[in-house]
Amino acid sequence: MAKSKKNERRRVLIANKKSPFSYVEAYKTVRTNFNFITQSNEYKTIIVTSATPAEGKSNVVINLALSLAEMGKNVLVIDCDMRKPGLSKYLNISLRTPGLSNVLSNQSRIEDVVFKVSDLGFYVLPAGAIPPNPSELLASKNMERVIRSLEKDFDYVLLDTPPAFVVSDALVLEKVVDGAILVIAHRQATISSIKSAKESLEKSNIKIIGAILNKYDSKQSFSSDYNYNYDYYASDYSKEGKR
Ligand SMILES: Nc1ncnc2c1ncn2[C@@H]1O[C@H](COP(=O)(O)OP(=O)(O)O)[C@@H](O)[C@H]1O
Ligand SMILES: [Mg+2]
Repeated sequence: MAKSKKNERRRVLIANKKSPFSYVEAYKTVRTNFNFITQSNEYKTIIVTSATPAEGKSNVVINLALSLAEMGKNVLVIDCDMRKPGLSKYLNISLRTPGLSNVLSNQSRIEDVVFKVSDLGFYVLPAGAIPPNPSELLASKNMERVIRSLEKDFDYVLLDTPPAFVVSDALVLEKVVDGAILVIAHRQATISSIKSAKESLEKSNIKIIGAILNKYDSKQSFSSDYNYNYDYYASDYSKEGKR
């Protein structure tokens, strides 16, 4: 994903007609590869995660949802960061809006808290009131029940995860997700942090279906110590090995 400083909309970098060509094109490639991998494997519920904070997970979730919605897919994004809800910030949703935490603690019904972000064409389940026990809620039987029921109504359910997700919480979502997308920010995550994120996900039996190289700055690429096997969307490496 090309680095983009322009076109900040609500501080999220939405790939639209005004965005740089490379940014929009990169999301089209992500969408195409995402469709190939998910449709051939019947994957529906995908977590978007990263090794370190602020690599661009929430931006990727929103832009991926937007580009899938543009091609007619019925997409839901869920903010699983109940401590600091990133999607609410970018989508201008009030922190008082009920959401996932309220549903998981049986205070709200799913149908009352999921709504369409009308100008972007996808649906959102906000994080909800900040609970004292977010990890416990994510690990609850209720979470499984909620996701299974949402999967009936949507083509894709994309989960935006908290910053430290891979370290502490991966295991708890193992039962509910079909796979993970690892967002890797150019010159931000180290090779060792990426490796340990990959290992944590694998230990938790969460299949990495692809990786997105984000904030890619072509000017810095030649001096980079990055392994360029990480394309902006590497294909299913559990099957084909790292490309
Ligand atoms: N492709 C990109 N180019 C430039 N800045 C980006 C890009 N993607 C994300 N950012 C910026 O990086 C910061 C973290 O992004 P965010 O999506 O909130 O990360 P996370 O959800 O992983 O914490 C934000 O300031 C965001 O605007
Ligand atoms: Mg975020």
